Amino acid sequence: MKIAVSGKGGVGKTLIAGALAYFFAEKGFKTLAIDADPSPNLAITLGIPKEEAEKITPISENKRLIEEKTSTGMPGVYKLSFRVDDIVEKYCVLSPFGINLLVMGTIRSVGAGCTCPANALIRTLIRHLIVERDEAVILDMEAGIEHMGRGTAKHVDVMLIVAEPSMKALEVAKKIHDLSVEAGIKNVFLVGNKIRGKTELELIDNFSMKNKIELLGFVPFDDIILKADMNGESPLLFAEKSKALAAIKKFGEKLAH
Ligand SMILES: Nc1ncnc2c1ncn2[C@@H]1O[C@H](COP(=O)(O)OP(=O)(O)O)[C@@H](O)[C@H]1O
Ligand SMILES: [Mg+2]
Repeated sequence: MKIAVSGKGGVGKTLIAGALAYFFAEKGFKTLAIDADPSPNLAITLGIPKEEAEKITPISENKRLIEEKTSTGMPGVYKLSFRVDDIVEKYCVLSPFGINLLVMGTIRSVGAGCTCPANALIRTLIRHLIVERDEAVILDMEAGIEHMGRGTAKHVDVMLIVAEPSMKALEVAKKIHDLSVEAGIKNVFLVGNKIRGKTELELIDNFSMKNKIELLGFVPFDDIILKADMNGESPLLFAEKSKALAAIKKFGEKLAH
């Protein structure tokens, strides 16, 4: 299963992507987490020490790999098939929780149909990743809607759109929803994160009903998560205690079905 996690900046994409990867790995899935945010920080959430995280070479900066995999000798034309397994084996870092992490890096040219080699490679990689029944691929997307224009997340089974209780976050969620549906993604869900009470819950609930966006559920605001972040620790260390992580685990179970 390929799951992309998207939404406005700061809504909790990285937390949710990281926690989903954790629960899939715990359930026995071979799990690959892809950091597709141009300012990558999924490594920390997955418990990879800072010094090690800093040494990871993003795919987009691996000129040799890009050339090898995409060049056809004709400008603007890229080879679209290659063995993803090689890439996973060669370029992943294994987190202490048993999750393989792949970092995509920055894609500098933006816009619809962008054909820069790095983007073509990333898109192709996601598209041609053959995911077996016992495998899970979780993508932590770039904030906002740009990645939809680039088609990076077009070939996923599930688009999970995260929103916190704010109109701005919900409007971005709606845009991503509409573009995802347009792109033909079959399962598009909204997740309400950082919920502190009934009013916030209702705001998201009403928005989803009004705009016909299927709601997967809610994640409560959780001081444990905030504190882990302040200390530069992985929130996954508190998987047993955190009510936010317990809620995300339930999403994992739903999606696994
Ligand atoms: N349920 C939650 N409860 C408390 N803090 C949260 C929760 N979800 C996310 N956060 C905090 O919000 C901030 C943004 O989360 P992050 O996952 O980095 O968002 P994004 O990847 O969407 O930018 C972080 O400081 C994170 O610890
Ligand atoms: Mg993030």
